[in-house]
Amino acid sequence: MTSRSSTGHVKDLSLSQEGVNRIEWAGREMPVVGLIRERFMREKPLAGVRMAACLHVTTETANLVIALKDGGADVVVCASNPLSTQDDVAAALVHEYGIPTFSIKGEDDETYYSHISAVLDHQPNITMDDGADLVSTLHRERSELLRHVIGGTEETTTGVIRLTAMAKDEKLAYPIIAVNEAETKHFFDNRYGTGQSTLDGITRATNILWAGRRVVVSGYGWCGRGISARARGMGSHVIVTEVNPVRALEAVMDGFTVMSSIEAAAVGEVFITATGGYHAIGRDHLEVMPHGAILSNSGHFNVEIDLNALEEMSTGKRKPREFVDEYQISDGRKIYVLGEGRLINLAAAEGHPSAVMDMSFANQALGAEHIVKNHGQLGPGVYPVPEDIDAEVGRLKLASLGIKIDTLTPEQQNYQESWEFGT
Ligand code: ADE
Repeated sequence: MTSRSSTGHVKDLSLSQEGVNRIEWAGREMPVVGLIRERFMREKPLAGVRMAACLHVTTETANLVIALKDGGADVVVCASNPLSTQDDVAAALVHEYGIPTFSIKGEDDETYYSHISAVLDHQPNITMDDGADLVSTLHRERSELLRHVIGGTEETTTGVIRLTAMAKDEKLAYPIIAVNEAETKHFFDNRYGTGQSTLDGITRATNILWAGRRVVVSGYGWCGRGISARARGMGSHVIVTEVNPVRALEAVMDGFTVMSSIEAAAVGEVFITATGGYHAIGRDHLEVMPHGAILSNSGHFNVEIDLNALEEMSTGKRKPREFVDEYQISDGRKIYVLGEGRLINLAAAEGHPSAVMDMSFANQALGAEHIVKNHGQLGPGVYPVPEDIDAEVGRLKLASLGIKIDTLTPEQQNYQESWEFGT
């Protein structure tokens, strides 16, 4: 039974205690966000700031938005994907933490956009987005609200690509910090987070054995690198497909088999798209895939697999287990699609582990603080996370792990900065 009001729209408020338990469990693995939260409680850097956060509603996101609230923000939350919400977390945010939350796992597109609209009704001063649906809806449908906005942050590669296109067209109306571009974000979250959680999602959906499987990974960006490395670690034969020649070469020298996507389609058993692009698996690929092929997507949007072509090629469809759709192809083959082609790590599993989201969300919190501190200084555009924030997140994470590192001596520093030294 769902409940809808100005305090949120969630599946079932009675799930909230389970949500609290899991949010606290995730918090144990998020010491950097924890430290930021403690400072935010003392300093209130976000006092009076209305924030709308459109993020995957998970235990990790809960720890972030609780820190923002403790920093003085008046924050509301909606989902950044219809299938990624953890309903117990959404319930806990509303019921236990007093954070209005609009998100229900499995919501249809209409409800998804009504939830985005609900957080825009909050008239945010800061947008916090993952994939840029919030920013895009704000600019296209609610532009009268832009006058309230001082800035925003964006979590993911796909969102940064969309925002950069908006800025190029001179349509982006305010400054947005590209959290994804921080080294403490994409080196770890995209690579180790996506790598582990994608295999986790596919395993939970199917319980397949990875050892000995031919796994095709489309895209060798940070996510594709992580997925390929982890699949190899599980004993799979990994084939990489890429359109970028340098990345393809990197995959070759990392020891993977690289081939064209159409060649790979004919020999793969498990397919994982991580391109951030459109129809990485299209009709031509579907036509040559072996019987029993398993298809999944780890990119932000559900457009990497051409599901319309698959529907057209099939005579029937059934659900042999949760998160698995079996397509009966007219030539007798069966092809399986996981999680409706949506990001499998959040659809069928819990997304990236908390320890890695700790760094991503530390950048989010500090990015929001940066927007407030620099209000009026930044024009419309997409901005990198300032280097000092990135380095601070790295330092805090190392400290939380009890790891000490060296600093350069004055002599070494001098050497780094001079050009007269030589043989
Ligand atoms: N994106 C990927 N994994 C996530 C998680 N666990 N929480 C929020 N956003 C995510």
